[in-house]
Amino acid sequence: MNPTANLIDPMNLAESLQTLLATATADVEAAADVAALDAAEARAVGRESPIAAARRNLGKMPQEERRDAGRLINDIAKQIEAVVADRRQDLEAAARAATIAAEFVDVTVDHLTMPTGRIHVIQQVVDEVCDIFIGLGYHIAEGPEAELAWYNFDALNTPPDHPGRLESDTMYLDYGNPEDEMLLRSHTSPVQARYMEIHDPPVYIVAPGKTYRNDTVDATHLPVFHQIEGLAVDEAITFADLKGTLAEFARQFFGSSTRVRLRPHFFPFTEPSAELDVSCFNCDGGESTCRVCKGVGWLEMLGCGMVDPRVFEAVGYDPDAVTGFAFGMGVERLAMVRHGIDSIRHFVDNDVRFLDQFPG
Ligand code: DAH
Repeated sequence: MNPTANLIDPMNLAESLQTLLATATADVEAAADVAALDAAEARAVGRESPIAAARRNLGKMPQEERRDAGRLINDIAKQIEAVVADRRQDLEAAARAATIAAEFVDVTVDHLTMPTGRIHVIQQVVDEVCDIFIGLGYHIAEGPEAELAWYNFDALNTPPDHPGRLESDTMYLDYGNPEDEMLLRSHTSPVQARYMEIHDPPVYIVAPGKTYRNDTVDATHLPVFHQIEGLAVDEAITFADLKGTLAEFARQFFGSSTRVRLRPHFFPFTEPSAELDVSCFNCDGGESTCRVCKGVGWLEMLGCGMVDPRVFEAVGYDPDAVTGFAFGMGVERLAMVRHGIDSIRHFVDNDVRFLDQFPG
């Protein structure tokens, strides 16, 4: 229903226009949204409105009244339009405010996050050592952790009465054919034999992996630990190649001023055999109070040597045609020395306060 319909009485124009203004104003103010306002505006001043009718009626009026009546109508129409414009502004502002309120997102609220894991410090060291040897042209090789005694010992020239073969040192498995003794490999060296058995020389490999020994846990022993094995076999490999390669590895891993020294040792699968020490990266061999090397100046790093001809024979290589060197290092030891870690147990405690210190 149009509350402004029929409000204009041509006989009483000024008064009825005032009434129209009041009624239209109330109608406009009552509009609850822009659509309602558009409708109210059309009712008050649109083509069907009493204002439009009054304008159309002007032509029928006597000439002398027409101008004043026209002004009056225009004046009221303007006032109504002003009220509409005000109301429109208010309604649009309210609509904007409602949209903003409805779409509000509190960007300061903490969202759900999954903590990011990191690569374990032991794996970080494995990756770093492997990367260094890959840079020197080596390939990565792998072997099983449940291993035949033949690969773990016999193929590596380790006699049946070697103390390392005792149950007090090696964990045996009650599995498979009893003729083929099975064990959890006590070092990564069996990968040497497995690899040579199925690959012709030249061989340049590093073999990282888990190793097992019947050890009681203490600050430097875990029954499960990691080693990285290395093997280079070619036509004229010499002891100088061994030393040069390991010196380059030590410089890349511990720092460019690192020096190495070799001490005679014994391993069944190498002849001659040696242990490699690196100069202390902390004091460079110069401090009696150094907490890293305890004043020794050198850090024991790994075992190595020239591959024993009997190992070549065991895997079907001709010991007169090739020579080679091999080495094996303990990953936990490398990590402990590098980071000044005082107990090997930290690596398996799974305490994030420890692990978080090695973001990688
Ligand atoms: N397998 C030895 C160990 O576990 C380490 C080792 C020494 C590996 C000399 C080698 C080597 O390849 O040539 O103690």
